[in-house]
Amino acid sequence: MEQEIKDIIIEYGRDILCSDTFLAAFDQSHHYKSTVGDHTLSVTAEAVKFCLRHNLTDENTLSNVVAACLCHDMSLVGREEKYSNNLETLMQHPGDSADIYTDLTGESDERVLNAIRSHMFPFTPDIPKHREGWILTLADKISASSDILNLQPVTPEDRDDILEQAASRPDKR
Ligand SMILES: [Fe+2]
Ligand SMILES: [Fe+2]
Repeated sequence: MEQEIKDIIIEYGRDILCSDTFLAAFDQSHHYKSTVGDHTLSVTAEAVKFCLRHNLTDENTLSNVVAACLCHDMSLVGREEKYSNNLETLMQHPGDSADIYTDLTGESDERVLNAIRSHMFPFTPDIPKHREGWILTLADKISASSDILNLQPVTPEDRDDILEQAASRPDKR
């Protein structure tokens, strides 16, 4: 992964990346071959790549996109205890992940909340209202496909690099 993408993820996602909830996501399996943590980093990298490609690089957009991507599936950590079947997981995890975004960051930006709540579109009826939501739902589909095909868009080295740099860098915001 390009360093520019890592830098953006770390700069805007540092607090989330360093949280116990986020770190626990690397122990939670997802899409059979990946973990929620690796899938999440892959979604975030895809979304940031999209923003760079389309010059959506203002601070507000990058900050919202990174927060929405990093939190979008956090409620899947411990899913076996929370949800009784796949349909319940599908329908409830977006709203529950939005609550986790607020818990982790202390923020409740409407564009981030809406992006997380609508990220399963078109499998759930919530349609994204803002561009952050469309970027997240697109990146999520690309990354889910990569996970299933075992394409490993985020290598173990990328993952360790991001987590180590996030833990050691001072907060720039
Ligand atoms: Fe999801
Ligand atoms: Fe996802």
